[in-house]
Formats: sequence, C-alpha cells, structure tokens
Amino acid sequence: MKEKSSGILISENRKLRQELAGELMPIVDITDRISDISKGYATIREKKTDLVFLDVSRQENDILNLAGRIKKIQPQTDLFMINSRKDPDLLLRGFRMGITDFLTYPFDNAELAGSVRRALDGSGGISKSADIFPVFSLKGGIGVTSTAINLADHIHDLTRDRVLLLDLNLFMGDISGYLNIDITYTPYDLIKDMERMDENLLFSSLFQHPNGFYILTTPEEISDSDQVTANDIMHMLSLLEQHFDYIVIDCPHDFSDRTLEVCTRADRVLVMTQQNIPTVKSALKVIEFFRELNFDKKKIQVIINRYLKKNDMDDVDLEKIFRQKIFSTIDNNYPLFSMAANQGKTLNQADKKGKINNEMKALAGNLTGIKPHEEKDWKKIISGGLLG
Ligand SMILES: Nc1ncnc2c1ncn2[C@@H]1O[C@H](COP(=O)(O)OP(=O)(O)OP(=O)(O)O)[C@@H](O)[C@H]1O
Ligand SMILES: [Mg+2]
Repeated sequence: MKEKSSGILISENRKLRQELAGELMPIVDITDRISDISKGYATIREKKTDLVFLDVSRQENDILNLAGRIKKIQPQTDLFMINSRKDPDLLLRGFRMGITDFLTYPFDNAELAGSVRRALDGSGGISKSADIFPVFSLKGGIGVTSTAINLADHIHDLTRDRVLLLDLNLFMGDISGYLNIDITYTPYDLIKDMERMDENLLFSSLFQHPNGFYILTTPEEISDSDQVTANDIMHMLSLLEQHFDYIVIDCPHDFSDRTLEVCTRADRVLVMTQQNIPTVKSALKVIEFFRELNFDKKKIQVIINRYLKKNDMDDVDLEKIFRQKIFSTIDNNYPLFSMAANQGKTLNQADKKGKINNEMKALAGNLTGIKPHEEKDWKKIISGGLLG
C-alpha cells in the first residue's frame, strides 16, 4: 500500500462529508468534498484520484450514470457507493457498473475503514486473480453439486494451481456429505474472521482435499443462512479471489442477491440442464434472465447433464431453444455417481478412466484453456525427469 491515497467525495450531506473525511484521514486524503455532481465529474477527470465516494441516497440514477462514466475514463479508480441501506437492486446495478464496495450511512467505522483498506491493499482494489466459475440451475437435483466437485478436482489436476470449491448453499451444503469429510471451518467463520485474515491463516483454516483442491462449505447440519448478506459474500469473494487461481462455486437454486452477486462477478456461469421439458424451461428462464442482466454471451455456458443421445430433445434441439451452443455434455450413469458418493470419492478417484471422468476433465480443459493432453507430467517433473 502506498503512504496515503487520495480520494474525492460527492455528497449533498455536509455531515456525511465531514465524517467520512475525518474517519479515513489516517489512510486517505480526501482532497475534494463536493456537493454538485457535474462539478464532481469535472474534478475527478482532472485529478485522476485513487478513490471516489459517491453518496447515492439522492439522485440515484444520476449517480449511477456518473459511476459508469468514471469507470470508463478511469477504470483503475476504486468507486464506493454510500446509501442508507443495502438495497439488492441498487447493489446489483452498482456492481455491474464496476463499483468496488457499498458503504452504509450512518457509517459503521470498522466497515468503512476495512473496506477502503482492502481496496488499497489489493493494489488498486480490483486485483482480481481467480477465475470464478459458478455452477447453477434454478431447479434442484440436476447435478450442480456433482459437477462442481469434479470440476474443482479436475481444474486442480490440470493446472496444479490453487483451486477452491466454494459451497454457497449456506443453509445446508451437500459437499461434505458427497466427499465424506468433516468440515470445521465454514463460510460463517471466514466472514467473522475477515478483518484479521491473511494468507497463512486462510490456508491453515481451509479444508484441503487429499487431491489438492481446497473446500469451503458448511457442515451437514442446518445453519442460519439469513445472517449472511450479499455484501458479506462479496467481501468473502474479494478476499478469496486474491488467494486462489480458480474458484468453482456450488450455487443454491435461487436468484437471491447472494447468487446474483457471484454470477455477476463470474468469468463463466455454467448453467446445468437435463433433457426434459420442465428442466429445459427452467434453464431457458435462467439464460434469458442472465441475458437481461447483460451478461456477455460467452459468459453463459450450458451443460447438459445425464445426456442421452437418443432422446426426443437432443443437443441440436436444445441449441435452438437456448439460441446458443451447448458447452458440454455429461453422460448418464447413476450407479457410478452413487458409488462415488457412498465412498466419498471424486470421479477421478472412483473411475479415473471412465467416460464421465473424461468428460469432466475435458470441461475443466475448456474452462482453463489447458487441454488434457497438454497436462504436465507432474510425476516426471517431481522425480527430476525434466532435469535429467
Ligand atoms: N451425470 C449423472 N448421471 C447420473 N446421475 C447423476 C449425474 N449427475 C448427478 N447425478 C445424480 O443426481 C442426483 C442429484 O445430483 P446433485 O446433488 O449433484 O444435483 P444438485 O443440482 O446439486 O441437487 P440439489 O438440488 O440437491 O442441490 C444425485 O443423486 C447424483 O448422484
Ligand atoms: Mg446441490
């Protein structure tokens, strides 16, 4: 972090202006406190400041437009929006504009300083490193959890990078059951520990699967997920993406603002479907909704799970219905999946050479850009083969 960063604040509220400047004084020099939007824009253009704080409680649309314009001319600037409450619709619009964080007024001083510090620590606040791949379906039972688990395993296998399997089913996750693991450190703990979290604490707290990827999930009991807000999830992701190369997310089957938050931030959203009318209808709804949110075409990718070649609806039909190419298909093999779950194994462990395992591997290859046949021969490297 550099000595002291500079910031510009736009708010009609004099008290807010004073409080923010006073509270941030040790870390940010608020060079301009401005009440008028157009004057604010001119000043920001001229000064190329590190941080901009926008009070969005009045003139909401004008402020959002302003945020968009600032991000266009100065993408490296961290934008903070201030409002009296965290309205999910506003959050979503703000994040789509590229804002760094939302702050509530009256300020929670710890939240305010913590949020700004995180932005500054992350070399400009937008130091995104992890590729984020949420796996999603609105309907349950389509294969989201199974795909997320095996994808995380294969991405790690192909890349040997730091891979996290994140379960956002906070009410009750399935991953610990499927992999037969005892989870002691949960997303709730991470959210609580956020302020003091550093790399050592993070990696010593997270569960690491014997295959090498990390897991953040809830235990198998029912938890009170209502305590966790979209903003908590956003903070958690901001932290995690600084420490991981890939984050695969087992998403809940809903359009809650928590889910939308991660999908908005994602690099690719993997929409799961199967070949039956109710599931296809539901997947189409999801795809259309993401299109309405202006997600990039390449960002929405469709996977057909339990794929049967001979079916009334084949992949060509589905491509017509969804008006886009199918990204990948996964064969149907219920006995294999139940055997793997009963033994707490990934497919790589349960059926390494099997068809579905190869399909999962190819999917990981498509997402990472590393083709399975290019996979490094780690055994050879480790045993000195490359040196000899
Ligand atoms: N390709 C497949 N072939 C056969 N069975 C599968 C396949 N993928 C998943 N299954 C099985 O379908 C069931 C649902 O899978 P999974 O739990 O992964 O779906 P989900 O979308 O996460 O469901 P939930 O609504 O419980 O979150 C499980 O019993 C799983 O073993
Ligand atoms: Mg699931």
